[in-house]
This record gives sequence, structure tokens and C-alpha cells, in this order.
Amino acid sequence: MLLRDVETGDLDTYVRMRCDPAMMAELGGPLPRDGIEAKVETDVRKTRADVYWVSMIVPDEAEPETVAGSVVLWSHEDGDDAGASEIGWMVLPEFQGRGLAKRAVRALLERARDDGRWGDVHAFPGVTNVASNALCRSVGFTLVGQRDATFAGRPLRTNHWRIDPGTDLV
Ligand SMILES: CC(C)(COP(=O)(O)OP(=O)(O)OC[C@H]1O[C@@H](n2cnc3c(N)ncnc32)[C@H](O)[C@@H]1OP(=O)(O)O)[C@@H](O)C(=O)NCCC(=O)NCCS
Repeated sequence: MLLRDVETGDLDTYVRMRCDPAMMAELGGPLPRDGIEAKVETDVRKTRADVYWVSMIVPDEAEPETVAGSVVLWSHEDGDDAGASEIGWMVLPEFQGRGLAKRAVRALLERARDDGRWGDVHAFPGVTNVASNALCRSVGFTLVGQRDATFAGRPLRTNHWRIDPGTDLV
């Protein structure tokens, strides 16, 4: 498995991840197709500028054109969480259940640890998102509690997990 920066050619993967009812079942339902090009362009620009990191998961280095999903690390620019770092992840159905999300999250948190600017990293999986909550526990996050969050503007009841990548990574 390797991580690489998002590119404009990742549009189809974005559509599969964000506009599919099954992929978005724990994230408030599928997003409209309109706006996905703009989202990819913003993510490419901000990742290139090192503002935040959108990393695509490549399961096999020998097949760099095959992409399984993404793992994303960003810092909130405004609101109550301004300055707080958050991580999120998605793996397409045919690649799920192989430990890819776990390895990708670990790899990005190792990069965050080595980079040093991110501080504690937070994650907010839906309370019923069994795989994501298991992943948090396995990687070394601590459960802080529950809270109401928003994903792409929609309300979501979430677990709040926190990790210090410098000391807590398992
Ligand atoms: C959540 C998601 C990223 C997991 O990806 P994955 O590559 O299948 O996850 P992994 O194989 O690394 O497994 C992570 C943990 O979840 C568990 N798990 C995976 N699929 C599961 C399932 N269907 N039911 C229950 N547990 C599951 C694994 O056993 C593992 O737990 P462990 O460390 O205790 O063994 C993927 O299912 C997904 O993208 N779902 C839709 C989008 C989404 O919900 N994104 C997350 C938003 S917070």
C-alpha cells in the first residue's frame, strides 16, 4: 500500500466515494454529483500548497493506476474547532475488509507525527459506523465522547476520538 497526493484524474473515484448511497450511508447519504469537480480541484490545489493533505490509497505499488479510496488530514480554519486537526477516510466496497483503511490512516498519522504541525488529531465517525470506530480503537485513538457534527453540511451523531500521533500510535 502507498499513499499519493490527490490529482484531477481522481474525479471518478470521488464520484464513487461521495455520490454512492452505500458509501455515504454513515455520512448522511449521497452528495449531489454537481460540485464534485470543484471539490477535486480545491483538494488538488490545497494539497499541492500543503494547506491540507488529501492522500489517495494505492493498494499495490506495482499497479499505481488502481485506487482504493482516500485518507484526508485537515485543520479547521474557523468556527468552534478553529485550529483543530481532523482526519477522515473512505475505502471503496471492493477493497474493504483487507485492513487498507487502517494502514492508510496509520501511514498518514505517521506523516503528521514527523511533520510536527498538527498536534492532536480528531476523528468523528458516526456512532453506528462499526468499521470506523473499530479502526479508531485499533490505531490508538482515545474515545472522548459523543457529539453532533456536520459532514458536507448535514447533521451527524458521532463518536469523538482523539490521538496524539507523537505518542499514541499503535
Ligand atoms: C470505514 C471504512 C473506511 C473501512 O475500510 P476498510 O478498509 O474495510 O477497513 P479495515 O479493513 O482497515 O478495517 C478497520 C476495522 O474495521 C473492521 N471492519 C471492517 N469492515 C467491517 C464491517 N463491515 N463490519 C464490522 N467491522 C468491520 C475491521 O475488522 C477493523 O477492525 P479491527 O482493527 O478491530 O480488526 C470503509 O468501510 C468505508 O469507506 N465505508 C464507507 C465510508 C465511511 O463510512 N467512511 C468513514 C467515515 S468516518
